Amino acid sequence: MVTIRDVAAKAEVSVATVSRVINNKGHVTAQTVSKVFSVIEELGYKPNAVARSLTSRKSNTVALLVPTISNPFFPELARGVEDLAHSYGFNIFLCNTDDDRNKVTNYLDSLRDRYVDGVIINSLNLANEDLEQLHSRGIPAVTLDRTFSTHKFSSLTVKHREGAQLATQHLIDIGCKRIGLIRGPEDDSTAVQRMWGYRNCVKEFDWFDQSWIAPGDFSVRSGYLCMKELFQRHPDIDGVFASNDSMAIGLLKAAYEWGRKVPDDLAIVGFDGIEMSQYTIPPTSTVKQPIYEMGMKAMEELIRLMKEPNAEFSKKELDVELILRESSMR
Ligand code: RIB
Repeated sequence: MVTIRDVAAKAEVSVATVSRVINNKGHVTAQTVSKVFSVIEELGYKPNAVARSLTSRKSNTVALLVPTISNPFFPELARGVEDLAHSYGFNIFLCNTDDDRNKVTNYLDSLRDRYVDGVIINSLNLANEDLEQLHSRGIPAVTLDRTFSTHKFSSLTVKHREGAQLATQHLIDIGCKRIGLIRGPEDDSTAVQRMWGYRNCVKEFDWFDQSWIAPGDFSVRSGYLCMKELFQRHPDIDGVFASNDSMAIGLLKAAYEWGRKVPDDLAIVGFDGIEMSQYTIPPTSTVKQPIYEMGMKAMEELIRLMKEPNAEFSKKELDVELILRESSMR
């Protein structure tokens, strides 16, 4: 493979001069520029993107860390980030961390060494020092969705608790008398806030206790298994709030297997507003997050911080919207 050293030797200039010509940096005479480029063409040298970023410290790349790529929420979120990034000439590194602390730190270490221009992080397993380290290296970061508000940096999420209250109150308003919750992972900040939103609505009812809450993990399968568990514990259940749409999709199968008609015997509301929630039978009511817009707004904030490194950080909580469909229309 032809290296930058080969080009320098052939053009009888230093490696630093070739690097300045490639990155259009520093003072180089027109004669030297044309000589270097003719040698580059003659030898077929392909400047290495990583090598380019080493000098300019700008790789025109931003990284997006997500906790999984198997849940349809995250591709919709990534699409919003990517579309705006491309309109500003940035490429995206998409990093799947499985919300695993080791994978988060490995990715961040690797991204720092590649002079990535900015990072958008959707992860529970993020520590304050991770963000401080990025900041000290001049790499702006925005935390998104699953975030913790105690850090000083920019963050963007939605009103999870209020959204859960909208869902649960709707089930009460349509006449449900026994309402269960299929919650998300217990260490997930978004799931915890939704659980509190549900509890705020039902805690006064004499029938309510912890047995009406089934511990899901945001997967379709856990929605199915949790709904079967709730049927076994409480055959009289007539309403359920699933903390995300994937689990709402899974619980429909359990309702079918138990011979329960939706919404007549069991009314259902999910959370997220993923496209698939419109195509279940019956279509699922849900608390819609502005998923695509949230991705775009996170990228917008990152670009603002790149342009103004000393700008004030911003913390935003976007509104959610209750979308009513057949699964809760009585
Ligand atoms: O469905 C995936 C869930 O994880 C969403 O509710 C989103 O908020 C993310 O935290």
